[in-house]
Amino acid sequence: MKQSTFAHRYRGDAGILRLMDDLGRALATDERVYMMGGGNPSHIPEVMARFRRSMEAILADPARFNRMVGNYAAPQGDVSFLKALANLLRREFGWEIGPENIALTNGSQTSFFYLFNMFAGPFPDGTNRKILLPLAPEYIGYADVGLEGDIFIAARPEITLLDAHTFKYHVDFSAITSRDDIGAICVSRPTNPTGNVLTDEEIARLSQMAHEMDVPFIIDNAYGTPFPHIIFTDAQPIWDDHVILCMSLSKLGLPGTRTGIIIANEDIIRTITALNAIVSLAPTSVGAFIVHDLVESGEIIEIGQNLVRPYYQRKAEQAIEWLHQEMDDLPFYVHVAEGAIFLWLWFKDLPITSHELYERLKERGVIVVPGHYFFPGLHEEWRHKHECIRMTYSQDEETVREGIRIMGEVVRRAYDA
Ligand SMILES: Cc1ncc(COP(=O)(O)O)c(C=O)c1O
Repeated sequence: MKQSTFAHRYRGDAGILRLMDDLGRALATDERVYMMGGGNPSHIPEVMARFRRSMEAILADPARFNRMVGNYAAPQGDVSFLKALANLLRREFGWEIGPENIALTNGSQTSFFYLFNMFAGPFPDGTNRKILLPLAPEYIGYADVGLEGDIFIAARPEITLLDAHTFKYHVDFSAITSRDDIGAICVSRPTNPTGNVLTDEEIARLSQMAHEMDVPFIIDNAYGTPFPHIIFTDAQPIWDDHVILCMSLSKLGLPGTRTGIIIANEDIIRTITALNAIVSLAPTSVGAFIVHDLVESGEIIEIGQNLVRPYYQRKAEQAIEWLHQEMDDLPFYVHVAEGAIFLWLWFKDLPITSHELYERLKERGVIVVPGHYFFPGLHEEWRHKHECIRMTYSQDEETVREGIRIMGEVVRRAYDA
């Protein structure tokens, strides 16, 4: 049967689809697999126990249970949760926001599908606009969401070497000249895939740029503060009328509840609410119910600061130590780990592409993600795109330790050949 242009657009050659498929198939073998490819958060025992206690309290209260699973929420999301979160953000950061500034979605991936198509593509005035990603590499999940195909413009970063094996990307402001076809500026902070946290100065400059261009500044806070707080620097979050802050419960440990949160001005929230109603009647309430009391009491902040952040920081430091042990005599660099659940490795002048490296690692049972997927909107050829890989360090110690050992062997062989 024939399918529409819409269908062809999405079943085409979406990198994320191919990759998820490939990762799924790699896992379906009998061989031992060292999975360092996906974006699953860890199941931190104390955090999962806290969510279980919340769920038990809901189950023990029939009226609450019935409301959670037996009613459609408002299309803007569970009203009681919106109020609790607005109060928390006012208390914590002093932001002038109320429930009218927040909407829930079925995961922040859905938020980006809405937002990028709201601010890129054809506009009623006849213009065609793009989303500016001021610093590539950026999150692979953005790449294919545009109804109009390629909707991104991205810029190369500045690379600063911090020591013999550590580097950091910065926004190259000279590369992001002001254009009149930009519909929004977007960054993930902390960044997936690199673990970079854009500095407060960079954020202030980008925000000012967006304000002057009269476009929104979208900040993807999936790993940021106040939750899940997988952020190892003391970078400050920002809010303004032209800022759209996207949050998620996924990396806190609840990806299965598919809960995305958009914080924005009322006009934008009205559009999100309409999209929710049309696409799915209402967003899910399950995540909102599980964390409601934690948000109301502020305990969610302590969970982030005292449990989630130290857990991931320890794991990141341990993985970096192992990487140094295995590869310090090679031209290898790791992006400074400032947050998120990944390490971004750069093998300078690697004689093979990162895709070939990915294939060779896969043959040895080690699954990572080749770096070239993470440059949506950066169309120019740049060798660096093919010299990097992303690895997740959120898996158990044995997986990460052995995965890194095998990686050392495979990379060394590639340089030696
Ligand atoms: C930077 C970033 N943004 C958004 C998402 C989407 O998260 P979710 O749809 O689970 O809320 C992810 C998931 O890995 C991510 O890494």
